[in-house]
Amino acid sequence: MDAKARNCLLQHREALEKDIKTSYIMDRMINDGVLTVSEEEKVKNEPTQQQRAALLIKMILKKDNYSYISFYNALIHEGYKDLAALLQSGIPVISSSSGGKDSVGGITSYVKTVLCEGGVPQRPVVFVTRKKLVNAIQQNLLKLNGEPGWVVIYGMAGCGKSVLAAESVRDHFFLDGCFPGGVHWVSVGKQDKSGLLMKLQNLCTRLDQDESFSQRLPLNIEEAKDRLRILMLRKHPRSLLILDDIWDPWVLKAFDNQCQILLTTRDKSVTDSVMGPKYVVSVESGLGKEKGLEILSLFVNMKKADLPEQAHSIIKECKVVECCHWGILTDLLHKWNLS
Ligand SMILES: Nc1ncnc2c1ncn2[C@@H]1O[C@H](COP(=O)(O)OP(=O)(O)O)[C@@H](O)[C@H]1O
Ligand SMILES: [Mg+2]
Repeated sequence: MDAKARNCLLQHREALEKDIKTSYIMDRMINDGVLTVSEEEKVKNEPTQQQRAALLIKMILKKDNYSYISFYNALIHEGYKDLAALLQSGIPVISSSSGGKDSVGGITSYVKTVLCEGGVPQRPVVFVTRKKLVNAIQQNLLKLNGEPGWVVIYGMAGCGKSVLAAESVRDHFFLDGCFPGGVHWVSVGKQDKSGLLMKLQNLCTRLDQDESFSQRLPLNIEEAKDRLRILMLRKHPRSLLILDDIWDPWVLKAFDNQCQILLTTRDKSVTDSVMGPKYVVSVESGLGKEKGLEILSLFVNMKKADLPEQAHSIIKECKVVECCHWGILTDLLHKWNLS
């Protein structure tokens, strides 16, 4: 476990030992595969509640980052929100791409199902990680702390915002801990009033598959906004709405509805007049030579160091403004692959 996580656990050990009842928490940790049944037995054999909690924490301290996150999530789910808040600053950052552990912390079948149901796009075929940015988005989403608010991914066209938004939720512990109600992806784009109404109607239909709230579509934007609020509140609490590619501030008004929202945009000012806390993650327009070469090497299935001289010229060809452009490079490569 990271030193930061360990210290945080040690620092709040007393408060945790005093208050938690271990049985449901352990069930969750066993489900997550971070605690064994025999460890559970040992804890259960302790005579008092406090001693059981103390032994469980002692065990967690010897474990890895995933165990910390699993414990944190268990606290949230079992009604110990205040205690979970104490551990929040120690949450270790685990990227969905941290290899090896994929079945535990990354892209589990749970993640695949939730993202597929929520309409989150898949990874590009050739994919390179951008850990720092994904972590920054996740940290900002964590700051919302379950309350309504906005996280904005902002940057030029083609800089990889949509891919990053999808990537930030492609992580088991993150999804389970922060958005157990799931995620709902809406590709918004540039819209006029009737286009927006259609987007809202489609979203309401998706959120109310069994038509338990209403059997007819909302007739105007105002009605759709009201419907959306009720659906998010009653049917999909603790879920995340992802609004991809927002162009106009007036479009956001329809979604300004006490939800937790992650959005991508080229115009940082789109959230100027919405309510609630806002956190912005800026994505640089450039891809950088190294990431460019990384994409190329994945494409041709060759080590970066073994790429021929032409690789550098290809990267130069894709220069937009100062730097290389994610979309242009990958488009070029796909075309090249087809020809
Ligand atoms: N992490 C990545 N790895 C590989 N290719 C990427 C990555 N991010 C973006 N791309 C490529 O760049 C294109 C544009 O990315 P996208 O996220 O749609 O940009 P934006 O939303 O900022 O306009 C994608 O279709 C993909 O081909
Ligand atoms: Mg986009």
